[in-house]
Amino acid sequence: MKTTIINTPLNLAHTPTPIHRLNRISDKWNGDLWIKRDDMTGSVLTGNKVRKLEYLLADAQAEKADTIITCGGIQSNHCRATAFACAQIGFKCILILRSSSPAEMEGNLLLNHLAGAELHFVSNEQYYSDLTGIFNKLATEVKSNGGKAYVIPEGGSNGIGAWGYVEALREIRKQCYDLRLKPNRIVCATGSGGTHAGLLAGALLENWDVEIVSVSVCYDKDETAGIILGIVNSMIDKFNLNICVSKSMIKVIDGYIGEGYAKANKDVLDVIKEVAQNEGIVVDPVYTGKAVLGLKSELLKGELEGTTLFLHTGGVFGLFSFREKLAS
Ligand SMILES: Cc1ncc(COP(=O)(O)O)c(C=O)c1O
Repeated sequence: MKTTIINTPLNLAHTPTPIHRLNRISDKWNGDLWIKRDDMTGSVLTGNKVRKLEYLLADAQAEKADTIITCGGIQSNHCRATAFACAQIGFKCILILRSSSPAEMEGNLLLNHLAGAELHFVSNEQYYSDLTGIFNKLATEVKSNGGKAYVIPEGGSNGIGAWGYVEALREIRKQCYDLRLKPNRIVCATGSGGTHAGLLAGALLENWDVEIVSVSVCYDKDETAGIILGIVNSMIDKFNLNICVSKSMIKVIDGYIGEGYAKANKDVLDVIKEVAQNEGIVVDPVYTGKAVLGLKSELLKGELEGTTLFLHTGGVFGLFSFREKLAS
């Protein structure tokens, strides 16, 4: 079998990000809760996406691309991080943004604009029925103008992007060793699956006995586990990794999606305020707020014994679309 070697990643994220205990909510929620602050990987490049981009953009450079095309929801954190990473490195950035209604220039969308990304707005119907066609059309246009496009899938979640979280797992392991911390599990929010996939592959490669658990914000348990399994398997195939994963090893909690992706109900908004007011930390309404709501409920039910390390994956700019609900 031909083994691909992962390219040396670019240096975009401010790492290692801190780990500390959440003393006040640990007391309130009857747990031993710690946090890994990947909301502090940068200022505008903040969150989990930048770790994936370190690998994806290194690959794009190796392929001699000059233009990055990627996609996501109108307030996508991944698109915003890609726009800024491209601005920093000197790639042209084209974003395909999904929106059911005309969008206000705020939050991540405003930042994409500031970073100079070329924005293409598509309806939900177009996005879900013809995303590949839209990518191909844009890549062909880049080529006919003498450029070379590199396409990054939604969330940067493929076998290359997920390496960002293999390395993050190694970073976490070293920090836990230094802190004499023995987490029973690492919990994160999951959307496109790359973060969970990278953490799981990392734990297996490192032979570290820590459970990787994610709280789904998009799909049910089974579908999410299938997506994560697909990403880990693509890493195994591409890089000939000596690990083996089955669907039953992928732990997903799916009871906290609420009314759907990017919709936040009162429980989510309340937990965002509770974390802000008790720990001075901001979680977001689309990803990390739902994951923390899941953590809180599972802790209070007594389902998460021992020590839990929550991976804060960022998302702060998504807060502003919910300003009226949050302020009320
Ligand atoms: C803030 C935040 N947290 C978590 C996630 C989920 O990560 P993944 O897509 O790797 O599952 C995302 C993805 O967009 C995100 O923006």
